Amino acid sequence: MKLWGGRFTKPTNELVDEYTASISFDKKLAQYDIQGSLAHVEMLAKCEIIPSEDAETIKKGLKVVAEKIKAGEAELTEANEDIHMNVEKLLIDEVGAVGGKLHTGRSRNDQVALDMRLYLRDSLVTLVELLKNLQEALVKQAKANLDTILPGYTHLQRAQPVLFAHHMMAYVSMFERDVERLSDSFKRVNRSPLGAGALAGTTFPIDRHYVAEKLNFDGVVENSLDAVSDRDFVVEFLSNASLTIMHLSRLSEELVQWSSAEFNFVELDDAFCTGSSMMPQKKNPDVAELVRGKTGRVYGNLMGMLTTLKGLPIAYNKDMQEDKEGMFDTMETLKGALALFAPMIETMEVKKENMYAAVAEDFSNATDLADYLVNKDLPFREAHAVVGQVVLHCIQENKYLLDLSLADFQSFSELINEDIYDVLSPKSVVNARNVVGGTAKNRVKDQIEQAESRLTEAEAWIEIHEEKVNVLKK
Ligand code: ARG
Repeated sequence: MKLWGGRFTKPTNELVDEYTASISFDKKLAQYDIQGSLAHVEMLAKCEIIPSEDAETIKKGLKVVAEKIKAGEAELTEANEDIHMNVEKLLIDEVGAVGGKLHTGRSRNDQVALDMRLYLRDSLVTLVELLKNLQEALVKQAKANLDTILPGYTHLQRAQPVLFAHHMMAYVSMFERDVERLSDSFKRVNRSPLGAGALAGTTFPIDRHYVAEKLNFDGVVENSLDAVSDRDFVVEFLSNASLTIMHLSRLSEELVQWSSAEFNFVELDDAFCTGSSMMPQKKNPDVAELVRGKTGRVYGNLMGMLTTLKGLPIAYNKDMQEDKEGMFDTMETLKGALALFAPMIETMEVKKENMYAAVAEDFSNATDLADYLVNKDLPFREAHAVVGQVVLHCIQENKYLLDLSLADFQSFSELINEDIYDVLSPKSVVNARNVVGGTAKNRVKDQIEQAESRLTEAEAWIEIHEEKVNVLKK
């Protein structure tokens, strides 16, 4: 007999059981479900809705059920549909009919919203920590490469030289914003929907704030209809996760390019690469490629959730059961990617000489020749034209700017003097970009300093919020 079987005259069709059940994936929520039930039952006793002895019995029973599920000893069945009814059934098996008092003043609709929020807030803290570890690895590479110059690219054509440290710090900035978004979203996730009942509230004199406090929420979701309808916190997570993996996929692409024989700028550690079953010489950047590839599925999960919610009337609709698999999948994909990226970046060998050689063999100092002429009062547009001529000459002669003699230079402009050789050296070119956020060594050092102070802030955030979510696990 189903927990809700009273008004039915025959058993559910087996295919219906199979199709509508969520236990195969929402069993992931088991421990959160039980945490929520423990707080709920304490509130029921405190508000004198059920006797304290019954609440004690239920609490003990719930703890046994939690242990059994953890140990894989509990039987979770499709016949019991989802994690909520499976736990209730296991509880009743454990403590008898009194277990049936647990669901007083509660619906699976507010219960599932609660479980989702408990799961997500926990995972948000883990994600921020993983992002922090990755940023630290990037900062470490930046610090070790404050004198490493490589061509900066636009249109994947050599454009202007930059410090490799500068390039690493660009990613640190991206991941900083990701941390900001995830930690900000925590505030919206961390509200208790419990007490909304099925949709309208409950007739029992419950205390929503008491439950919220027990579970370390920052408050309650005010409107009961909203509390059971809302999954925008899931959409927000899927969107934030999409941005993070988008950043990772760009870094992935660069690692793939840089580790090719054509670039030969970095070598990824053997521990983070895989081989070919046929070609003995191969060493492939599979992790980077796979993260780049998985980005598609993470975006898909966002589009899936948005589409599921589009046009749904409030309050709960069974459609909303579709909120789980995409969220779990995205969470695991992102956690896996971040956990691999931090050590992969940290152990990556940077081939400084190859980067420098690439800078020497290009025209990425051409802008500096133009700027040099501008500083001698030639209008920029004319300077641009002169340098265009110089570059064309070099291409025809198979030379780079620094290969030209002073006489060569002066045949294009009288304004050019001996000091041009220093001005056009890669190091001068880099250090000339001495503006806030520019690639000059001192400016990159400033970026590193600021990033480190924000990493300290992130660490403090993690500590406070770990405490918040861990209280329940004690
Ligand atoms: N398994 C359901 C879900 O994940 C739980 C809520 C079901 N509520 C209901 N009224 N059928 O969404």
